[in-house]
Amino acid sequence: MPLAPADPELAEILGLARDLARRAGAIQRDRYETGLTIETKSATIDLVTEVDRACEELIVGEIQAARPGDAVLAEEGQGGDAEQARVRWIVDPLDGTTNFAHGFPRFCVSIGVEREGERAVGVVYDPLLDECFEAVRGEGAWLGTRRLQVTQEQDFGRALVATGFAYDVHKSDDDNLASFRNVVKSARGIRRDGSAALDLCYVAAARLDAYWELKLHPWDVAAGFLILEEAGGHISDFSGGPGDRSGREVVSSNGRLHDALLALLEPRAR
Ligand code: IPD
Ligand code: CA
Ligand code: CA
Repeated sequence: MPLAPADPELAEILGLARDLARRAGAIQRDRYETGLTIETKSATIDLVTEVDRACEELIVGEIQAARPGDAVLAEEGQGGDAEQARVRWIVDPLDGTTNFAHGFPRFCVSIGVEREGERAVGVVYDPLLDECFEAVRGEGAWLGTRRLQVTQEQDFGRALVATGFAYDVHKSDDDNLASFRNVVKSARGIRRDGSAALDLCYVAAARLDAYWELKLHPWDVAAGFLILEEAGGHISDFSGGPGDRSGREVVSSNGRLHDALLALLEPRAR
């Protein structure tokens, strides 16, 4: 049985999030490997395409039409955010823009929803694989009819681990490279796939054992955090504390490997 929340409001929100993720994903599929207008944002390697903007316009417009009282935080700035709103949507219209711009087939739509300040619904849709990862607080994480559960792996030497590098990597010394080296020397394998939302879902789906990254944003993690928590995963900051919802420090794992991963990450100045 696929996910069907008993709470009517969460059922409505999940239905809308699913529909919008699939419709935005269809735009991405149609425009994949076609000529794109590409601009840069915070750095020469931080890209935005016309497809990011078109997907965001669709998602934000439809949320505002269907649920005018809700707040929306969306990466490209088209939402109307209010951190204290009762229901708040957190949208990354296209996570993996560098991949999308290069025709590398790893990108998705990520839609997270908080209710009364708590993560409530998460949907991450990969349009090329037609995979929709979803979770509702307390009702598990799902990929279609499959309930997701993290791996049981306890041996870091057998772990497949993912990470990423922030867009300031050319200029900043806080660049994740020392941690990357430590993990490469210890894990079975490491991946840098270029979509934080999918990385979190892949830990949830037992395709990865762990994933860490620095300097992410709320839209990168809002959906993936809930999907991973509901699959039994563990999420912390670099000190092993609960962290926050900002994405600034993300250490995630199947739980069993968490301390081993934390021990390999370079401590950060606070
Ligand atoms: C990026 C991706 C990437 C991560 C970057 C993110 P974007 O999101 O999730 O994997 O390493 O830090 O900013 O820009 O493609 O939406
Ligand atoms: Ca992103
Ligand atoms: Ca994005």
